Amino acid sequence: MKVLVAYMSSTGNTKKIAEAIYGEIAAEKEIKPVSEVQDIGTYDLSFLGFPTHGYGPDKKTKALLERLCRDGRKVALFVTHAAPEDEPEVPEWVVKFKQAAAGAELVGVFDCQGQLAKGPKFFMKISPNKKLRSDAKKDNSKGQPDEARLERARAFARDTLKRVV
Ligand SMILES: Cc1cc2nc3c(=O)[nH]c(=O)nc-3n(C[C@H](O)[C@H](O)[C@H](O)COP(=O)(O)O)c2cc1C
Repeated sequence: MKVLVAYMSSTGNTKKIAEAIYGEIAAEKEIKPVSEVQDIGTYDLSFLGFPTHGYGPDKKTKALLERLCRDGRKVALFVTHAAPEDEPEVPEWVVKFKQAAAGAELVGVFDCQGQLAKGPKFFMKISPNKKLRSDAKKDNSKGQPDEARLERARAFARDTLKRVV
């Protein structure tokens, strides 16, 4: 059993989740930025993680998922977003990641809140877009992913591995 954990992460949130997942894998394993992954065909299971950019995967992420997730390869997705997990829109965003990964055999999906960085928050605050301004005002993501979320990610990894092995 050979397992890959690959992630995209500009400000470290998705990387923290990747590391929590990686720590739970008791098999041959590798962890790396997804930009360094050419092919996942040599792994029995790949955990692939991304931040939400613009209410789903951004163009680059979508293209990457479509390229890597082929031939029914076993993939578990993990996604971070600044919105709280119970925000009603979140499931729609997660579905967009799943759709981009539809060529894989999807064996698990995890999502959690990750801190909105100061830069994007500033631009959201001064945006002409009312929804973005309102989202910036509501932001409660400071300090995320916290220990409870990392623990949820570990449990997700254990559960996925149990089902796939
Ligand atoms: C350009 C951009 C767009 C974003 N769009 C969303 C969004 O639509 N919904 C959301 O909840 N968070 C959004 N975020 C916040 C990130 O998804 C969140 O902070 C994530 O945890 C960042 O992960 P990273 O530190 O691994 O890059 C956005 C962030 C950036 C920089």
